[in-house]
Amino acid sequence: MIITIASLKGGVGKTTTAIHLAAFLAAKGKTLLLDNDPSKYAIGYDANSDGQGLPFDVLPMARAMNRITQYDHVVIDTEARPSDDDLTDYASGCDMLVVPTTPAAMPIEGLVLLANKLSVVPEADWRALLTIVPPFPSTQGRETREALVEAKIPLFEAEIPRAVAFDHASKAGVLVSEMGSRGKEVWAGYEAVGREIYGQ
Ligand SMILES: Nc1ncnc2c1ncn2[C@@H]1O[C@H](COP(=O)(O)OP(=O)(O)OP(=O)(O)O)[C@@H](O)[C@H]1O
Ligand SMILES: [Mg+2]
Repeated sequence: MIITIASLKGGVGKTTTAIHLAAFLAAKGKTLLLDNDPSKYAIGYDANSDGQGLPFDVLPMARAMNRITQYDHVVIDTEARPSDDDLTDYASGCDMLVVPTTPAAMPIEGLVLLANKLSVVPEADWRALLTIVPPFPSTQGRETREALVEAKIPLFEAEIPRAVAFDHASKAGVLVSEMGSRGKEVWAGYEAVGREIYGQ
């Protein structure tokens, strides 16, 4: 299976999502995280640990081509602000295009724009993923979800809460599931997204 992570905005959790969905797929088969962000490697996530803490391989796009057939599953992390052509290429070149979206970034207009751009690829399967969702008592997550449903934006049921455990995990070069009980709790969000894409 090929899952691509893309968004019109930067800093919305693309790399974090790519890493944790790759971890989900790594339990199902041999998995590669492909880094298509020319500005910096997703491997920057684990710059200190050189990938040792992660259950999948990480390669920059240019080095992956002769190895890609060795993998059951590929997750592609992409750069922020893709061109329209990049976006439609991503959408048609994968089984699922995941678009991380933070409530704080007021995403409705951007996602309507994205939906319009992707309408030229009617066969594309894409969904927005609410991530970095502020905890109770904030209602921002729920309000954003309602607005996206209203705007007919395809959306994952599962969402990813805001948790400092993600920052700690990224600094340590490990998965968030290794960050104590809160880490396990928020990892369950990515597992639920994985199940929505892959099945059980
Ligand atoms: N659910 C979350 N809760 C709290 N912080 C998060 C969460 N997800 C990601 N972050 C943090 O937010 C920052 C941006 O995340 P990330 O690097 O995944 O975004 P990105 O979309 O890949 O950014 P870029 O556009 O720069 O590639 C990182 O510091 C990351 O640790
Ligand atoms: Mg990134």
